[in-house]
Amino acid sequence: MAEKLKIGIIGTGGISNAHTRTYLNRSDVEIVALADIVPGKAEAYRDRYGLTQARCYPSHKELLENEQLDAVSVCTYNRQHAEPTIMALKKGINVICEKPMSVTLEEALEMARAEKESGKILSIGFQPRFDPNMQMIKKIVSSGELGKIYYIQTGGGRRHGIPAGYGGTTFIEDGTAGVGALGDIGCYSLDMVLNAIGYPKPLSVSGFSTNVLAKDPEYWRYDMTEAQAKEMTEKFGVDEFAGGLVRLEDGIILDFRISWALHVDTPGDTLIIGTKGGLRIPSTDCWNGSIGGPMTVYKQVAGKSIEYKVPVIDSKVDLWERKIGTFIEAIRNGTPGAIPTWQIIRNQAIIDGIVRSAKLGHEITLEIPEI
Ligand SMILES: NC(=O)c1ccc[n+]([C@@H]2O[C@H](COP(=O)([O-])OP(=O)(O)OC[C@H]3O[C@@H](n4cnc5c(N)ncnc54)[C@H](O)[C@@H]3O)[C@@H](O)[C@H]2O)c1
Repeated sequence: MAEKLKIGIIGTGGISNAHTRTYLNRSDVEIVALADIVPGKAEAYRDRYGLTQARCYPSHKELLENEQLDAVSVCTYNRQHAEPTIMALKKGINVICEKPMSVTLEEALEMARAEKESGKILSIGFQPRFDPNMQMIKKIVSSGELGKIYYIQTGGGRRHGIPAGYGGTTFIEDGTAGVGALGDIGCYSLDMVLNAIGYPKPLSVSGFSTNVLAKDPEYWRYDMTEAQAKEMTEKFGVDEFAGGLVRLEDGIILDFRISWALHVDTPGDTLIIGTKGGLRIPSTDCWNGSIGGPMTVYKQVAGKSIEYKVPVIDSKVDLWERKIGTFIEAIRNGTPGAIPTWQIIRNQAIIDGIVRSAKLGHEITLEIPEI
């Protein structure tokens, strides 16, 4: 068997567990280095997983300066996606980075430049791409059954699900997360529909963003003490609900909204509407990498309005095995990563555009330089 690929994990928090468990199930890789900026965290992680051979570092810098690696998993919070990714690529190390790609478009562009200059692989972790139900959406659109797509509504999200309070506050502080629901789960909704229609370029956006519930102690007070609730309202520095009207090339309108908290069961199913038919994709309670139930196709047949269901595919696919597996296979075979960076730049341009437009209070034009 070929030599094992040497892997480093940057950021040993929540999601790194999914990366590590997946690597540990493979016989062709070994985790040789861990880094976390919280003192002792990487060491405790090493001991928990019995990774006796892994060296521990106090940040991505020391890890990248001292190790000869084939790949790293960047599992840091959003504001720390760009720096470790760029440094790793510049050192000739392949990177699988967690979603969202970054906080700003500028960071995403820098990451893409580093990828291009290094000739190495950058893969952004959108594991729902590997779900057969998600792939079915793209197949339906590609089949021509819906005709030419001209309107899309997407988003969804949660009614009362701000990810903070119990496992820390890195998702809600501006200094660590940078974006809230918009980046956290919004990037998935955007990827689902944009990937289905071939990722057309976004041209302009009129965005909105709010955190009116999270800034009120009332939101938190049933889950924690009064003092803790106050602390949450003070720390909350991102969006809980955001969205926008995006104009895509080819005359397509994308109407998008996403929530961590909103007083309604769902802020909307996903609709993909074309000249010959429409598709409804039920939203999930929380982004779990799939769809919320059977999809419906709407058509006009011989003057009659008809509709039919597309059953949920009972998938046995392990999304994490595919996410890490396609990354490792691309490194071994010298082939491009499974999720092209140019696509995720467009995803990030919409997120960045919504943030900027919401602050300005009017529609803005999106400029995405070629890399
Ligand atoms: N793909 C998924 O299903 C999924 C699920 C949850 C989270 N995520 C993404 O994963 C990322 C991390 O989320 P999390 O829940 O693990 O957060 P977390 O806060 O639990 O973990 C992040 C860790 O990174 C460490 N860190 C930050 N900067 C560092 C640096 N420069 N060097 C080394 N360590 C550093 C922090 O100390 C922390 O331990 C987020 O961007 C999030 O959007 C993805």
